[in-house]
Amino acid sequence: MTTILAIETSCDETAAAVITDGRRIRSNIVASQIDLHAQYGGVFPEVASRAHAEAISAVVSQALDAASVRYADLDAIAVTQGPGLVGSLLVGINFAKGLALATDLPLLGINHLEGHIYSLWLTPGFVEPEFPLLALIVSGGHSELALMRCHGVYERIGGTIDDAAGEAFDKVGRLLGLPFPGGPAIERAARNGDPRAFRFPIAKTDGEYDFSFSGLKTAVMRAATAQPTARRNKRERGAERAAALRDDVNIADVASSFQEALTEALAKTTVRAAADFDVRAVLLAGGVSANGLLRRKLAAALDLPLWTPPLALCTDNAAMIGAAAHFRFREGLRSSLDFEARASWRLSEDVYAV
Ligand code: KG4
Ligand code: ZN
Repeated sequence: MTTILAIETSCDETAAAVITDGRRIRSNIVASQIDLHAQYGGVFPEVASRAHAEAISAVVSQALDAASVRYADLDAIAVTQGPGLVGSLLVGINFAKGLALATDLPLLGINHLEGHIYSLWLTPGFVEPEFPLLALIVSGGHSELALMRCHGVYERIGGTIDDAAGEAFDKVGRLLGLPFPGGPAIERAARNGDPRAFRFPIAKTDGEYDFSFSGLKTAVMRAATAQPTARRNKRERGAERAAALRDDVNIADVASSFQEALTEALAKTTVRAAADFDVRAVLLAGGVSANGLLRRKLAAALDLPLWTPPLALCTDNAAMIGAAAHFRFREGLRSSLDFEARASWRLSEDVYAV
């Protein structure tokens, strides 16, 4: 039996979890900063790192207590090394390094995107499919399509060339005056709207499996706000929040049509990639994988098994980092105590090679 304490602080959740054998969640504590960042309409990096520093010690203690585990029961400590906000990552990394030094336990710096993929291994009822698999990771910071050839071996075949899917949800949510984060708020608002009220464009990209969402966001802004974009100056163009909504705009219709266009783009490209690479199953992960329409579209269009995590494991958590760490620990990965945070870090075949 292998028991790992995992720590995650890459963005705006301070999280710690205890995982056994990469599949069993003994505890999973997430201290969300959503209320703190809501006033800014997005994640404010300096506020995030400070909040992590204030919360980390209590969150780790809670994770150990809830699992009834002491340091002596652990086999390793895992922590998110990147990608993410450097100031936030460093809080978790330095805390984990301190623990590893004090306890003499091995330390593993884990890739956050690999963590999202391994949230499926914690999903009740998940049966590991045969490889290769296709993973669609869609969150506030990332939209990636990756082929998974076996445990820990990836080929990134596409991703967003501008905004991440969750980022587009958050920006459009802000534009429509909905609460942060935009994803769940737009999904709620869309329930009362007509997905065909507006025909928002799905951008074409040069890369066969790439996405682009910034044009979609601009189209929503044009449809919903009072000033025509052409007459606004550069500074105003960036300020989605400042643009006034038209009086007659039906927010539910805009939300629903936007959600329709974005999920259609994700689903279409994913289904095409799944066929082209002849994969055995599709794994959907990351915060946007909580979206019901995206799940329904993919499930309807794929003639392959689609695996999705429970809602609590879609958004950032440390349990998924512990699950990924389990497979890395088993294959012998150990990080030195002087490893650094990595702001950007793509999934690739040799993801842990320096
Ligand atoms: O994975 P996550 O917690 O953080 C990152 O790694 O970025 O994802 C957060 C993102 C936010 O942009 C949020 O708006 C989006 O996931 N999200 C959703 C839904 N729930 C969360 N987007 C669409 N529909 C949802 N139900
Ligand atoms: Zn994430």
